Amino acid sequence: MSERLTQGPRIEYEGAPIKGELISSEKIAAKVTELADRIYEDYKGKELVLIGILKGASRFKSDLMAELGRGNKKTGRKPRNVKEAHLGTSSYGSEITSSGDVKKTLELDTDIEGKHAIVVEDIIDTGHTLKDVLEYLEGKGPASLEVCVLLDKAKERQVEVETKYVGFEIPSVFVVGYGLDFDEDYRNLPNIAIVDTSRI
Ligand code: IMP
Ligand code: MG
Repeated sequence: MSERLTQGPRIEYEGAPIKGELISSEKIAAKVTELADRIYEDYKGKELVLIGILKGASRFKSDLMAELGRGNKKTGRKPRNVKEAHLGTSSYGSEITSSGDVKKTLELDTDIEGKHAIVVEDIIDTGHTLKDVLEYLEGKGPASLEVCVLLDKAKERQVEVETKYVGFEIPSVFVVGYGLDFDEDYRNLPNIAIVDTSRI
């Protein structure tokens, strides 16, 4: 089950229009472990490829891959191999609302035909990006195709997308950090933080 979240204490980042933390890096790490446990169980004995959507999901996908390669003594999860693929999309530019017009900035860089694929994305908002990505990837002939998304702004959905793995359901606020950007900034914050949209 995904957890409901509200804005945490105000944290100052030098020069950044940040209101406060929404999700700490510790909470993110615990969620990555939990998702890796589920994925491990669901894909036992299957050839698996994780497709990261650039650039926002790079960090989440890397951490998920590393976790799957590490195993988890607590839950008995063994280290396992996964393949890595990338796909580039862009829809926001410097706006904070989705344009619904999804541009491909990089074609899929690894063959997924006949393989079990999971699209790893940072956030689902209106759903346009993932819907477009899923249609494109279905055309590449994977054995199966699922979605793993770290953040879900469920109230903003305009098109229906099936998301098998969801990290956190979040309110309708603009967030940055852990790979997510505002106009290419703040991807390197270690946590997920809320942008003060009155200051941008
Ligand atoms: P959608 O197409 O409206 O579902 O938007 C998904 C894409 O928009 C994601 O890949 C993100 O790059 C971007 N996005 C949506 N919400 C946010 C946010 O709060 N912060 C940063 N990027 C966002
Ligand atoms: Mg993105």
